[in-house]
Amino acid sequence: MSKQEVVTEKMSLKEAWDRVMEQVKEAVSGGGHSYRYVTLATVDKTNLPQQRTVVLRDFSDESEFTVYTDSRSEKVSEMMENGSVSLLFYDDKKKLQLRVNGSASIIKAGDEYKRNWENRGSKSPHSYTSVIPPGTEIESPEKAFDWHLEGTPNFCLIKIKAERMEFLQLNGVEHIRAEKIVGEGEEKNRWIAP
Ligand SMILES: Cc1cc2nc3c(=O)[nH]c(=O)nc-3n(C[C@H](O)[C@H](O)[C@H](O)COP(=O)(O)O)c2cc1C
Repeated sequence: MSKQEVVTEKMSLKEAWDRVMEQVKEAVSGGGHSYRYVTLATVDKTNLPQQRTVVLRDFSDESEFTVYTDSRSEKVSEMMENGSVSLLFYDDKKKLQLRVNGSASIIKAGDEYKRNWENRGSKSPHSYTSVIPPGTEIESPEKAFDWHLEGTPNFCLIKIKAERMEFLQLNGVEHIRAEKIVGEGEEKNRWIAP
């Protein structure tokens, strides 16, 4: 077992999950953690899977992931129509994959929204204030280089509430895999064969 790996076969399920969740928390606080950039998958209205890279902004209650986006983006329309989403994390140094299935909601008002805009969203307003909505056809790239830099018109939070999580710790040939079902009031944890 190299020192880089997060989970070992000697750990209890609880200890293993605590260590995996630690990785997610570290990613939120920055510091170049691989989990900072996560693949978010949605299902579009023609039932096709759609994936894109996003930045993980927050993780709370051991099961809620927060991402920022432009409310005019395709992913937002997709999630409004079908809230089932998936997140995929992989750390190549630690050889640890984390898969999350959950339901997404869009937040555009309230204390949490304001706090996130003031503390962080407003530090990179170009991501949420383009004049031309994301995904619009343009004649050339520079046509999109125009922003309304005041206000928060299109900034929104995506909150993903996990329903199922699964990790896979690669370790030579002795891989370790477990799943966790996060339900209302009940939580089921079990090892599964890799
Ligand atoms: C490293 C990286 C980080 C990104 N972070 C975000 C993000 O936090 N939020 C976001 O909406 N888009 C982010 N993007 C852009 C998305 O991957 C995507 O291109 C964009 O949001 C449009 O996706 P959509 O049309 O599926 O909505 C990021 C892209 C890269 C390459």
